[in-house]
Amino acid sequence: MQSIPVITIDGPSGTGKGTIAHLLAAELGWHVLDSGALYRIIGLEAEQRGIPADDSAGLCRLASAVEIQFGTRFRGSICVDGIEKSADLRTEAAGALASKVAANPAVRHALLARQHAFRQPPGLVADGRDMGTVVFPDAGCKIFLTASAEVRAQRRYNQLKDKDVGVSLPSLFRDIQERDERDSTRAVSPLKPARDALLIDTAPLSVLQVLTAVRTHVARTLALESSATPPPASQP
Ligand code: DC
Repeated sequence: MQSIPVITIDGPSGTGKGTIAHLLAAELGWHVLDSGALYRIIGLEAEQRGIPADDSAGLCRLASAVEIQFGTRFRGSICVDGIEKSADLRTEAAGALASKVAANPAVRHALLARQHAFRQPPGLVADGRDMGTVVFPDAGCKIFLTASAEVRAQRRYNQLKDKDVGVSLPSLFRDIQERDERDSTRAVSPLKPARDALLIDTAPLSVLQVLTAVRTHVARTLALESSATPPPASQP
């Protein structure tokens, strides 16, 4: 039996992974996993429920038991135990909380089965930090998006300004650097490209140009993957 195909899109925050993952999944008619949202949910819920960052057992119970429902639209609703929380989950504060709980190996382990459950026919586009290295190491197509912290801070600043959210560029830059540092130096599943991932520097590219580069890589690698599948044995 051929396994369900997976495309992984990893990289630091602000590289446009989420946008590209959703556009690609919509084109292919595949499922999408926003793994960062799972860590944001655990970070935010732990804080709201008073579970301390060093209470691994409490965080694990939360990660295994919390009921999560994603809406079908990009950046759509996210219900946690039946309550709509998408706006709270998309704040910078939730991103920082997520990055902290994500450094806990027990939390990462508890979220593994939930992430694997997204692998449903006809295929999955998974976005995160360790999709290609740890969660779906057998994915047929792996992509790692990069951009300097300056470029990512400026993009985020423009997005927030468009939404009339008051924030300063230097503080965004500092937050991004802190998050990069924590995500890439943690002992378990650090942010790093898989050895077989295609690296794309998104700094000089538009969303459409990134999508075009990604499409080309997807077409090439998934074609290779299917041509590597042995043909069915001939009938006697
Ligand atoms: O992609 P995001 O900004 O929503 O992710 C929020 C945080 O969650 C990020 O700083 C690190 C963590 N994360 C992770 O450790 N592993 C993932 N696969 C996805 C996110």
